[in-house]
Amino acid sequence: MPGDLQAELQSRLADIEAASLYRRRYVQARGHGPVVESDGRRYLNFCSNDYLGLAEHPDLQRAMAESARRHGSGSGASQLISGHNREHAALEEAIADFLGCDRALYFSTGYAANVGTLDALMGRGDSIVADALNHASLIDGARLSGAAKLIFPHADLAAAQTQLREASGAGNRLLLSDSVFSMDGDRADLAGLAGLAARHHAWTMVDDAHGFGVLGDGRGAFTGMRPGQCLDTPAPWPDVYVATLGKAAGAAGAFVAGSHALIEYLIQRARSYVFSTAPPPPVAAAARAGLALLRQEHWRRDRLRGHIERFRAGARAMGLPLVESQTPIQPLLLGAPDTALALSDSLRRQGVLVSAIRPPTVPPGTSRLRITLTAGHDEDQIDRLLDVLDVARQPGLRRAV
Ligand SMILES: Cc1ncc(COP(=O)(O)O)c(C=O)c1O
Repeated sequence: MPGDLQAELQSRLADIEAASLYRRRYVQARGHGPVVESDGRRYLNFCSNDYLGLAEHPDLQRAMAESARRHGSGSGASQLISGHNREHAALEEAIADFLGCDRALYFSTGYAANVGTLDALMGRGDSIVADALNHASLIDGARLSGAAKLIFPHADLAAAQTQLREASGAGNRLLLSDSVFSMDGDRADLAGLAGLAARHHAWTMVDDAHGFGVLGDGRGAFTGMRPGQCLDTPAPWPDVYVATLGKAAGAAGAFVAGSHALIEYLIQRARSYVFSTAPPPPVAAAARAGLALLRQEHWRRDRLRGHIERFRAGARAMGLPLVESQTPIQPLLLGAPDTALALSDSLRRQGVLVSAIRPPTVPPGTSRLRITLTAGHDEDQIDRLLDVLDVARQPGLRRAV
């Protein structure tokens, strides 16, 4: 009956369930490291983005506790009213120092950073040329901005070039990409994108959420580059660089890094920054402690690389449906959502957590298990994962390979 909200919602939920697309949350009773507790049981966790194993590190816990004692738990107001705490300022300075850029701006989440930045920079009459597999927050920011959206097939630079040509009207153009694609783990051709942008006088914005802390010496996809450099190797710094602090840095929030003018402008105009309570100072303190470890402890990245190689070698030997990814994101492509869900449930029963990723997060027909490896795991845990994935024991996988 029109007007009956409850009936309408029940019917929509039933449709989601019938399509094997229903999402359920599991309460984690303890931790988000390699071993977690849920429903009174311990599980090996292969679905966290805590890539360097910092989210439970004592340095971060101490920084958070000390900051909470000094500053309290909340910020009390937005950054432009009275919420801009010295912890936020110190974090922004530490990020800019690490990356070698003018300034950084700390947002409460990566979602807020992307949506707020795109909406602030772009508007009607402008064009955004974007990879089809970009993160939802980039897609939503592009939508909100009111700019024309031209979506090129994943990693297809020839198509991106055509779209940049098509978009050569009066407005500004922005080439927009993830650096590491969050559901596939593959990397964008940043040098190629930068070359295209330069030739077509477009701005560039790159989301390095899954590269920052993990790639290179920790400075992510643009390690070895300094903002303002225009060399072609590995890729010139983008005009707008975004990364999150809730993944490799072990805390929460995100930042935009770039020029003084970019940051000042976002402070004036990024609505998700201006009209939102500042993140709690203790979270910024934990992020700064995470950043310090991420800068110094290169062994974490070495260990992670070792795990990636070990997992891929084992998975290849078993004929698992790997994709071309050298990052900690190692999806197994299965196709149908019910296959992915059944496998994820089966692994869960065996004490291993791997999430099933289904549409709309990924395109129809590409449902998958999204395995993430971290420096917090040990080799035995990687071997245990391979053991439970053994094709011979998993009918769903047998069908998929
Ligand atoms: C590529 C990418 N960008 C942005 C985000 C959003 O970051 P946050 O979780 O801090 O909102 C995510 C996922 O969380 C992501 O994978």
